[in-house]
Amino acid sequence: MKYRIESKAQYQTFYNNSLEDREAYWSERAETYEWFKKWDKVQSGNFNELNVKWFEGGQTNITVNALDRHVKNHPNKTAILWEPNDPNGETKTFTYKELLEEVNRFANVLKDQGVQKGDRVCFYMSMVPELLTGVLACARIGAVHSVVFGGFSAKALAGRVIDCEAKVVVTNDQAYRGSKTIELKEITNEALKECASVKSVLCLRHTGAKVEMIEGRDLWLNDLLRSASTECDPEKMNSEDPLFILYTSGSTGKPKGLQHTTAGYMLWAAETFKNIFQMGDDDIYWCSADIGWITGHSYIAYGPLLNGNTQVMFEGIPTYPDSGRFWDVIEKYKVSHFYTAPTAIRALQACDIELVNRADLSSLKVLGTVGEPINVEAWTWYNEEIGKKKCPIVDTWWQTETGGIMISSLAGVTESIPCFATLPQPAIKPVLVDTDGREIQSNPAEGNLCIEFPWPGMARTIYGDHERYRQTYFSTYPGKYFTGDGAKRDADGNYRITGRVDDVVNISGHRIGTAEVEDAIDEHESIVESAVIGIPHEIKGEALMGFMIPTNKDANSKEILKKVNELITEEIGPIAKLDRAIIVPELPKTRSGKIMRRVLRKIASNELDSLGDTSTLLNPEIVDVIIEAMRSES
Ligand code: WTA
Repeated sequence: MKYRIESKAQYQTFYNNSLEDREAYWSERAETYEWFKKWDKVQSGNFNELNVKWFEGGQTNITVNALDRHVKNHPNKTAILWEPNDPNGETKTFTYKELLEEVNRFANVLKDQGVQKGDRVCFYMSMVPELLTGVLACARIGAVHSVVFGGFSAKALAGRVIDCEAKVVVTNDQAYRGSKTIELKEITNEALKECASVKSVLCLRHTGAKVEMIEGRDLWLNDLLRSASTECDPEKMNSEDPLFILYTSGSTGKPKGLQHTTAGYMLWAAETFKNIFQMGDDDIYWCSADIGWITGHSYIAYGPLLNGNTQVMFEGIPTYPDSGRFWDVIEKYKVSHFYTAPTAIRALQACDIELVNRADLSSLKVLGTVGEPINVEAWTWYNEEIGKKKCPIVDTWWQTETGGIMISSLAGVTESIPCFATLPQPAIKPVLVDTDGREIQSNPAEGNLCIEFPWPGMARTIYGDHERYRQTYFSTYPGKYFTGDGAKRDADGNYRITGRVDDVVNISGHRIGTAEVEDAIDEHESIVESAVIGIPHEIKGEALMGFMIPTNKDANSKEILKKVNELITEEIGPIAKLDRAIIVPELPKTRSGKIMRRVLRKIASNELDSLGDTSTLLNPEIVDVIIEAMRSES
């Protein structure tokens, strides 16, 4: 495989070369992909003007590189092995040729609905094959996909559909989720009451449940796909044409629609996948993420297909029919490369080891983790019980904003170190800065993690709000991209990510902004004001805890927790529910009226000695009252 890094020395050479001449490095790699028209300029723009562009003047289509290119060379190679929620249900297999045909059918259906280049199409589906083919169909015709995770509420879906002004929404009647079903169509109907931009809803008949179809708006996707042509010419996309929008939470305000573009993202997803996972031709990859998150975009929908690899796509959950399902799936498909999140590892680690041991895991060669810092116990268990100490672990650090993996070891090529993401990918220059914005040059070091130069896979903007993009990522440390994460660097230059340093909490690997949750809670008629913080949680990594001022000072915290969680489920989705609620008469505030969440975090973790100087608070006396409220609640 051209330019795959295959030794530590080669990594060093490539890394050094890539930083010396980033344009030459990326130009060489870009040559190995298919283009309708070659680019004029490899890269232009910078972080100060925030006008970064890659491969300007070039034209390509990501599906040509992910599908047609492989259909030419190996049409009958398996692309997708789809495993349904029910282990006894019908599996589905798609060769590269079949996958291309399905994508083309879907692309023609979208065209028939009037979807044109640049239009936004929103997907609110479970992990059915049509989610994958639908996303790729958008890319085929130049429409912009915006996938909303099927666990979000009607309100959250509506917010995203409205923000990106989607023309079409695609959903299924219901989703299977373990022993439950989720009413995706019903939730979509509820959400779309508020969405004027939506012209049609395509609904996949999946569970067969009776659902309400709105005359003149809703159509059965299955029927349309069946009669659609399997041929569809790929749209010639300019390198910087948008490919997708994906919403993610930040420390303030509503979720942001990060926008990724065509050529740079394509190269980033493809090259990182190739170097980090090191797959052989006959290997089988499985990423257990949902396409509703960035991991499912870059490392299910795009990365593996761009490399012509075979992968498992899984509809179900790790605990159904029992907590051995992941390991059974690995055995069933002889998975060699498995990529999951620390929260899943911790949850399965807590189960009977017999569930692991009953499966034959000898096919495994490489293990990956993503989404949150992995604790040493989980890393060790993953290494020993799943990898049987023979599989390198790639701890991959990255973000929705970065488009693909930024810091990770390369499986079997560079060293895996427990709990360290380790080394940057070629052309990535991480820097640690102190709180005054000064770069820390020496090793070992600890600071806020920034990235120094533009890279091809970076998000180009927040859809409809470039100024917010600047403010959020480029204003804290001018000239640098600020990740929102803290990190340590050891004497050899390996990075260990310590977690978010802003008001973003990582619950089971899912990003939730505390401000978003507070906004939801504050809408409750019995709450005056609230402050939400993240607290450590054994399985989820972090959980949410809310400090709340009720209108009725005799309110009971258990009842408040229940009521507030119902509201959060409605406004955002069950993933943002609080684990604990503490009733307080006031919140600690600065003199300018800002809530001091830092003080609340210290109280919650019982680090009372390091509360710092609280005398500058507007209401210093409240600290003891809150400490007491915490004590009497526990
Ligand atoms: C966290 C997920 C430690 C981090 C791909 C980041 C990690 C946020 C790791 C992005 C890792 C992701 N080690 N922390 N290997 N990977 N994170 O946008 O806090 O859903 O900022 O992207 O997850 O979450 P997002």
